Amino acid sequence: MTETVRPAAAPLSGRIRLPGDKSISHRYAMLASVAEGTSRIHNYSSGADCHSTLGCLRALGVPVTVDGHDVTVEGVGLQGYRTPAADLDAGNSGSTIRMLSGLIAGQPVRVRLAGDESLSRRPMQRIMKPLAEMGARLSARDGKFPPLEIDGAALHGIDYAMRVASAQVKSCVLLAGLNASGETVVREPTRTRDHTEVALREMGVSIETGRGWVKVRGGSPLQPREFTVPGDLSSAAFFLVAGAIIPGSNLVIEDVGLNPTRATLVDFLASAGVEIQILDLNIQCGEPVGDLVVRGSRPRGGQIEAEWAAALIDEIPVLAVLGALSEKGLLVRDAAELRVKETDRIETLAENFRRLQLAIETRPDGFFVPGNQKVHAASLDSFGDHRIAMAGAVAALCASEPSDINGAEAASISFPEFWETLRRISAA
Ligand code: S3P
Repeated sequence: MTETVRPAAAPLSGRIRLPGDKSISHRYAMLASVAEGTSRIHNYSSGADCHSTLGCLRALGVPVTVDGHDVTVEGVGLQGYRTPAADLDAGNSGSTIRMLSGLIAGQPVRVRLAGDESLSRRPMQRIMKPLAEMGARLSARDGKFPPLEIDGAALHGIDYAMRVASAQVKSCVLLAGLNASGETVVREPTRTRDHTEVALREMGVSIETGRGWVKVRGGSPLQPREFTVPGDLSSAAFFLVAGAIIPGSNLVIEDVGLNPTRATLVDFLASAGVEIQILDLNIQCGEPVGDLVVRGSRPRGGQIEAEWAAALIDEIPVLAVLGALSEKGLLVRDAAELRVKETDRIETLAENFRRLQLAIETRPDGFFVPGNQKVHAASLDSFGDHRIAMAGAVAALCASEPSDINGAEAASISFPEFWETLRRISAA
């Protein structure tokens, strides 16, 4: 599917509500599936990835019903999964395959987890190594890629220091720890999103945390809950950048998740000279939630490195667009993880930038985008990657002629309503 994006004829304005946070939706569904009773999840993400998780849970014998954005999950307890009749299909979703593997590994089931072409190229050793240390029996294509085969086994707790800062890996090990004997400790090199820890506490599991480590004790039952998922800050990022770079814009994004491990985005935008404000901050199911207001001006630009690179990893493609339209540009370092996302995002971003006649210098672990550039209309590609499609659309708003985004359907992996929302706020 091709979407044509017209240049923004006027400043962007309006109020936006976003689909439920993708990271939180996955976790609520997975944790609810092993709880002792029925959980209800409101504002569950409409993204295809989160529905891949629901499909896998159903195939594991968990009753799941969907009514619009409300999901009901009848938990089967920590040992209640059944061996599925066929392969589980994780689709395009790294979170599904990596986190669910942790929950499956300690249950008496045999499971093969597969995914689409992009997922089949993504590295799995990062979860295979700690799971094997816990006593899991698992194998992968060429020892590292999906499909993954798991033959459930009795697990024991470990003390594991991750080499890569990854919330998916941390969560996988913690979830395996729920079914392991003794204590499981995970240590992270830099702080990653902690939605798993927050949700486990909400479900009555005692979690200990310290600087750079998390500990869980195996065997404690999970209490079912009624959850509401906040709006997805990573989806908000596309509109925050669009609002920031189109002078005179004024956008309000309602009920966005502002967990401190994610809200680095707000801090970065403010440091890059964007006029951004948080209103009505409150706590919902242990997660901070608030409205964001962004006003268009001329951002200064900035630098993303070290722990900011890990915290902003999903937003970097659209922040590159902000860089090109800022005064000083954007330098990104320490972000080699971009190369193992749904696509090699350094390459796919650079390819679309070349088509838009935007300068970008790529490096093994990042890139530099000079500031003060002019966007030229072009025919762009999603390369099958949702965030590359949406970042391209934001850049296209600043051209002087319409641009095409080919493979635009990729946006529905996290944000099926993206194109409609973009049209609404740029026509207002
Ligand atoms: C996610 C963690 C990040 C992020 C992904 C979602 C999560 O991946 O890029 O979109 O929900 O835990 P890594 O754990 O691979 O960094």
